[in-house]
Amino acid sequence: MAGESMKIKSICILGSGGREHAIGYAFQKLGFELFFYPGNAGTKKVGKNIVLDNFSQLEEFDLVISGSEEYLAKGVADRRPNVFGPDSQGARLESSKCFAKLFMQKYEIKTARFEIATSCEQLYDALKRFSSPYVVKLDGLAQGKGVIIANSFDEALDNGKKLMNGTLINGVKGSVIVDEYLRGLELSAIAIVNGTNFALLPFTRDYKRAFTNNEGPNTGGMGAYGPVQIDEKLREKIEELFKKTLIGLEKEGIKYRGFLYIGLMIVEGEPYVLEYNVRLGDPECEVIVSMEPEIFAENVLKAYSNEHFDKYTPKYHSVDVVLASEGYPENPKKGQEITFREEGFFFYGGVTEKNGKLIVNGGRVLHSMGVGETLQQAKERAYKNIEKVHFDGMYYRNDIAMIHSNLDEQ
Ligand code: AMP
Ligand code: GLY
Repeated sequence: MAGESMKIKSICILGSGGREHAIGYAFQKLGFELFFYPGNAGTKKVGKNIVLDNFSQLEEFDLVISGSEEYLAKGVADRRPNVFGPDSQGARLESSKCFAKLFMQKYEIKTARFEIATSCEQLYDALKRFSSPYVVKLDGLAQGKGVIIANSFDEALDNGKKLMNGTLINGVKGSVIVDEYLRGLELSAIAIVNGTNFALLPFTRDYKRAFTNNEGPNTGGMGAYGPVQIDEKLREKIEELFKKTLIGLEKEGIKYRGFLYIGLMIVEGEPYVLEYNVRLGDPECEVIVSMEPEIFAENVLKAYSNEHFDKYTPKYHSVDVVLASEGYPENPKKGQEITFREEGFFFYGGVTEKNGKLIVNGGRVLHSMGVGETLQQAKERAYKNIEKVHFDGMYYRNDIAMIHSNLDEQ
């Protein structure tokens, strides 16, 4: 490394999931001193977990990377130049779906047709102008639980009202968006961004449904693989969406530096923006990082330091199979002991340590990783790796990185 990025010694990573463990794994390879807030039992293996009373304590680190959107939405990057991530204005792309949709409309960024409803009457009227399957989304952050897909009008209205008044998701309520249902192939496109400069990270595909064959409820993601190969034409269209987004942000007076994740639905070769996230995805991050950890970390440092950074072609393929705890996503079982038969390649999610034992304390417990020269090899390694670990109530999908299962609902 050269220039400004040379001066960075200490890095603090915010969050407590597999994503943060993976970011730490990449920077550890470059020899940085790492801190995590709040961290988990996995991040402890690559750095130190710390306690913070307030964000101003973060000013002592050379660099702060927010794994989670939560801290960015709360303004951790506001007037704090050592944070790699947008300020709370930029974070609205994720923290307010209404803001994001209106932004897309204003800057002619392709997205599903939509209407915003701020009352039950408006919701009723809006739903009348759509047809089954109905998509209703809550405006605010809801940890992946704020999107309803309903087959009947009555179910959409009923659950939409519950989203609005806060009875569906504890403590979160507000306006909703009725979205036109898009049928296609989902793709996660994530870029490292500094102003209007950006570099796409390898494309990945996430599996949102809880069970094999895309059955069961939506989750934060049950596994992912990458790089997803796409043709040049589609890549150009996706790059165009990033350009329009970053120019739009600039016009809005928002200086954006950090990760920008565009959740896409590819409909007959055309990419539509389903959502923006202002962070890396989880489990997409684990896949991206494990393909080329050093190159990933170097690019982040360069973008942060206003140096030249660029996209890269990874030499390896990677697969992440999430090992979840029974009951996830609604009500995951917690407290079971996790035992390893032998060392494997895992990023830790909902894992804590008690009296020297590893204990389940979240829904997505471990990420079983496989890296290889082909997708087939990566997949076999990720599944074989699972045999090294055990906890009661462990479940996972059998079809991560099996091409056919990506055809969501088709
Ligand atoms: P979001 O948080 O907006 O990305 O929505 C979560 C998930 O719901 C997406 O990953 C899609 O699987 C699904 N979804 C959201 N919006 C739509 C839509 N307009 N059409 C079809 N599926 C959607
Ligand atoms: N895996 C989807 C997300 O991180 O939003």
